Amino acid sequence: MNLQAYADQVMRRCDALAACTEEPGRITRRYGTPALAQANALVAGWMRAAGMAVRQDAIGNLIARYEAGQPGARALLLGSHLDSVIDAGRYDGPLGVLVALAAVERLAAAGRRLPFAIDLAAFADEEGVRYVPYLGSRALAGALDQALLDRRDGDGVSLADAIRAFGGDPARLAESRRRGDDLLGYCEVHIEQGPVLESLGLPVGVVTAIAAQSRVAVRFTGVAGHAGTVPADLRRDALCAAAEFVLAVESRARATPGLVATVGQISAQPGASNVIPGLVALSLDVRHQDDAACAEAVADLRARAEQIAAARGVQAGWQAAQPGGATACAPELVARLGQAIEALGYPLRQLTSGAGHDGVVLSALTPFAMLFVRCRGGVSHNPAESVEPADVAVAIDVLGRFLDLTAGE
Ligand code: HGY
Ligand code: MN
Ligand code: MN
Repeated sequence: MNLQAYADQVMRRCDALAACTEEPGRITRRYGTPALAQANALVAGWMRAAGMAVRQDAIGNLIARYEAGQPGARALLLGSHLDSVIDAGRYDGPLGVLVALAAVERLAAAGRRLPFAIDLAAFADEEGVRYVPYLGSRALAGALDQALLDRRDGDGVSLADAIRAFGGDPARLAESRRRGDDLLGYCEVHIEQGPVLESLGLPVGVVTAIAAQSRVAVRFTGVAGHAGTVPADLRRDALCAAAEFVLAVESRARATPGLVATVGQISAQPGASNVIPGLVALSLDVRHQDDAACAEAVADLRARAEQIAAARGVQAGWQAAQPGGATACAPELVARLGQAIEALGYPLRQLTSGAGHDGVVLSALTPFAMLFVRCRGGVSHNPAESVEPADVAVAIDVLGRFLDLTAGE
């Protein structure tokens, strides 16, 4: 097959994976669901057909190995994630897994073995929609806090039970852990999920760092009451407090260069049209390329939540779910990806990532790098997510060249 044929196959496979969903008519594939199990089965079949030995680890990651040309060699980790957000696009995650698989298929088709093994990981959870982000890579990095096993999802299912239901074993998570000195590094191909490459007319770019990210669970507790009898000045309306806070979040982000802040989830209890909301829970996601700027914004917003609550006679609750600092990619791998791009005659462009990725966790275990692929309008976390097959061919080509350079060729 030629390069474009591999790219076309990646596109077809992304379409096939899009059918693995919890919700017919849109793509939702959360950790531990039958939809994800269906995706794992599909991808494991493609991995085996490429001649890879495939296993599912204790948390549900697929790990496929393409052996080195000699025994005892270290491994280069490639991959991305197969879980999705709600009403997702079809390339966020799967593209990275399938481009890496295409690079292995090209090696196998040429009968080539490298002086290192390739471990291709299809992580079972990166988005954290059901529990917390990066469950799959945390297991590999030995960074999955046991206390998380008691975390419950929206249906009250604990992570431990979800792992068991997915065929895993919470008692054996330590077996998923990789030793850093077994690995040469981690390289992930991912859609940019932003507008930079498209604005420059470039197919790919090299990531230099991933933004600091803080996720907080915020609650406003007021007093539920009768919508028809409680006068405005006597109300302790949790939803009005939350609404004022949401606009404060937007104002803080608008006022701060490089800061993005999002309230993506909000729920009001008891949730009847004729009851004044007594309890509102909302999510807060704050990001900045600079740790201090991110932390300062989170602190300011916490103070603002307290102020709003005090002025309205309600209580504010604040639980930081996932503080995560800005994470730099490994300079030597960034340089090597850049060398691969230029060796193939493409213009080199480095850029930072506002989106989080498993490299944030894996950077503690091994050096990591990312190759971004242009996506139409920078749209992602949206069914309109779209990539060009020609750009996918470039990504497969660059990853192949990166492997050659890693092999010293
Ligand atoms: O939220 C993120 O940045 C990533 O898509 N998980
Ligand atoms: Mn995502
Ligand atoms: Mn992703």
